[in-house]
Amino acid sequence: MERRFVYMDYNATTPLRPEVKAEMIEDLELYANASSLHEAGRKARSRIERSRAAVAALIGAKDPERVVFTSGGSESNNTVFATMFHLGRKGGRKGIVTTKIEHPCVLNAAKWLADEGFPVTFLDVDEYGVVDMDQLRRAVGPETLLVSVMAANNEIGTVQDIRAIAAIAKAAGAYMHTDATQSVGKIPVSVDDWGVDYMTMSCHKLYGPKGIGGLYVREGRPLEPLIRGGHQEHGFRAGTYNNQGIMGFGLAAELAKAELDDYVERIGGLRRRLRDGILAAVPKCRVNGHPERVLPNTLNVSFPGAEGEAILLSLDLEGIRVSTGSACASGSLDPSHVLMATGVGPELAHGSIRFSLGRDSTEEDVDYVVSRIGPIIARLRSMSTVSY
Ligand SMILES: Cc1ncc(COP(=O)(O)O)c(C=O)c1O
Repeated sequence: MERRFVYMDYNATTPLRPEVKAEMIEDLELYANASSLHEAGRKARSRIERSRAAVAALIGAKDPERVVFTSGGSESNNTVFATMFHLGRKGGRKGIVTTKIEHPCVLNAAKWLADEGFPVTFLDVDEYGVVDMDQLRRAVGPETLLVSVMAANNEIGTVQDIRAIAAIAKAAGAYMHTDATQSVGKIPVSVDDWGVDYMTMSCHKLYGPKGIGGLYVREGRPLEPLIRGGHQEHGFRAGTYNNQGIMGFGLAAELAKAELDDYVERIGGLRRRLRDGILAAVPKCRVNGHPERVLPNTLNVSFPGAEGEAILLSLDLEGIRVSTGSACASGSLDPSHVLMATGVGPELAHGSIRFSLGRDSTEEDVDYVVSRIGPIIARLRSMSTVSY
């Protein structure tokens, strides 16, 4: 096959949809501040509220007012943890229960609370990345303030049973938060069905712009602003409205909702084709994550005897853009905390690649990757001291 460019890093970010880009460009002309009372301001504001309704519809929130716009997933997650900090400091419950496989913005926020004297439990996961429910039941009790478990993992794609987890949190009187950054637009998401109190979203994972996201907050649940200032977002998040970002989020959400069933089926089919192709092309590789409860677009594979960064760079030379599971990109040589939590061991964790598919992925892309991966792994293994 001829060399081509293949983007398979959609979990890192997605391209801006042309329709969304056009809407945002049009919106740039409407420069009015959405808090202004004149006609232009009111027009900008009504567009923002339309977007809020579209985002709420995507996540099954009946009342759009319960969606707070933020700068993205990291801010939404930090706002929840900061709220717990303020609540816990006032006395009463302080226990935080989360998992070992959360995104760093949750892990580090939880570590901050631990440093501040909050008792924090980081739950284990099984070999597929599924939360240990027995350990969860034992960890959650009358002292628990918050349970925070991601809906789907960004590295291995494993999907958690958020409804069951939320039921345990609720029975103990704790708040339930889920980071659904990787789930919204990829699998059906319903805040009521799941029974969550807080839910995090990020727009750049669903073909919208970067720097805009949302936090769902159930009615009656506390929320402490991370950014204090004006009255925007009912005082939950101050700062002049990001009109273009919000417009982009609204349209991206509307399109994602309309196309969800097709997405799940088509992208799920491509993922199976990629998985089967790689398993046939490369001996002794291992698919990480749950075999069924997994995001339709995410395939994480360990290639023993080859090192993740070397595979990534070799694929890059062939025009293929993927990610490793490790944190090397951020200057650390630590193996992926997610894979290590699944117990694969450092060698498999170091030799893992995340292929994440998306709307523009095609069968030709998949076949091209399959055609290139076999020779790359064979070459890298031939340089290894261990024979494979
Ligand atoms: C699971 C998860 N949570 C949070 C984030 C952070 O989102 P943002 O980039 O919008 O801050 C990401 C981004 O990769 C993610 O995958």
